[in-house]
Parts: sequence; C-alpha cells; structure tokens
Amino acid sequence: MLIRSAKEDVKYVMFSREQIAARVRELGSALTAKFNGEPPLMICVLRGAAFFFTDLCREMDTLMDMDFIAASSYYKGTKSTGSVRLVKDSSIDMENRHVVLVEDIIDSGLTLEYLVKLFATRNPKSITTVAMLDKDVQKPNRFDVDFYGFKIPDEFVIGYGLDYADYYRNLPYIAVLKEECYQ
Ligand code: IMP
Ligand code: MG
Repeated sequence: MLIRSAKEDVKYVMFSREQIAARVRELGSALTAKFNGEPPLMICVLRGAAFFFTDLCREMDTLMDMDFIAASSYYKGTKSTGSVRLVKDSSIDMENRHVVLVEDIIDSGLTLEYLVKLFATRNPKSITTVAMLDKDVQKPNRFDVDFYGFKIPDEFVIGYGLDYADYYRNLPYIAVLKEECYQ
C-alpha cells in the first residue's frame, strides 16, 4: 500500500466537481418530481455517500426527513469480499413511508440488495435506490438501481466520499487511483 497525496496518487480525474454538481442537480429534480407532495425519508449509507447525500438533498425541493445508516461490505484491498453487515441502523419508523436509499457506488450490488431486502420487512410505502456511480460490471442477477449519477468502467475510484484505506474521501472530484498505490 502506497498512500502519498492526491497529487501523486491520482491517475486521472474521471468527473470534475462541476460535472458532479450538474448531474446531482438533475438527480435532485428527478427525485423531487417523483415524491411531489409526499415527504420521503432520505437514508444515507455511510460513509461513502456522505457528500453525495447532502448535495442531493439540497437539490431536492420537497419536505423530507433524513437518517444515516452504515453498512460494511468491503473490502480486502480493492476487491469485494461478498459479505454485508449493518453497522448502524435507522431509528426512524419506515412504515408507510417512501424510503430513498442513497449509496456511493454499486459494484457487485450486494450491499444495496441486502439493505432493500432488510428495509422491505419494515413495511415502507416504497423503496427507491440511488447511487452516485454504477460500476458497469457484467454479473448475472446484479442489482438494478433506480437512479444513478454516472456509469463507470470497472476501475477503482476515489474521492467525493469514496475511499481507499479510508483516505481520499475529501477530494472534491472523482478520480482513478494509480495501480501502484494498492499493490
Ligand atoms: P457492492 O456491495 O459490491 O455493490 O459494494 C459497494 C460498496 O463497495 C460501496 O458502497 C463502496 O463502499 C465500495 N466500493 C465499491 N467500488 C469502489 C471503488 O471503486 N472505490 C471505493 N469504494 C468502492
Ligand atoms: Mg459504501
């Protein structure tokens, strides 16, 4: 593992701050239209979705309430381990509510699939899934997200909430990490 600075460790910027902001604005409008009149319960999946979530909620012109959960799915290095665990649950009653689950990125889809199944048992009116990035990996039965920001190739990305070994989350852009950093 080789962690130096963004300047040295970023291979290239995939989405700039401006590109992200423009896309989040579009997603906010789409979600506002979807829930017009009925305040959704917005749920952030910590920690990766933190910046995306707060930006997205501010681009939505509707009443809402917010909660924060944490799931741990990852990761040995940069590969998914396939097991998901809820580390912090929601304390808000979901019964008859429109629930919106906001994730940073979908890779195998296991995290969102697990969370949707779990929350479905709490009798919400609906569950909508949103992810900033959808890693377009070819896997059978992969989870189909309702709204996504960008589709990306199967590369390991950092920034705008996404980490490698808990670093780089605070980068204001989304970038590809140099391979030498995780070898
Ligand atoms: P999934 O359960 O395989 O869909 O994995 C989803 C989780 O893995 C995300 O919420 C991220 O925390 C993490 N993850 C997947 N791909 C990346 C990446 O390219 N960079 C950083 N984290 C990632
Ligand atoms: Mg995550």
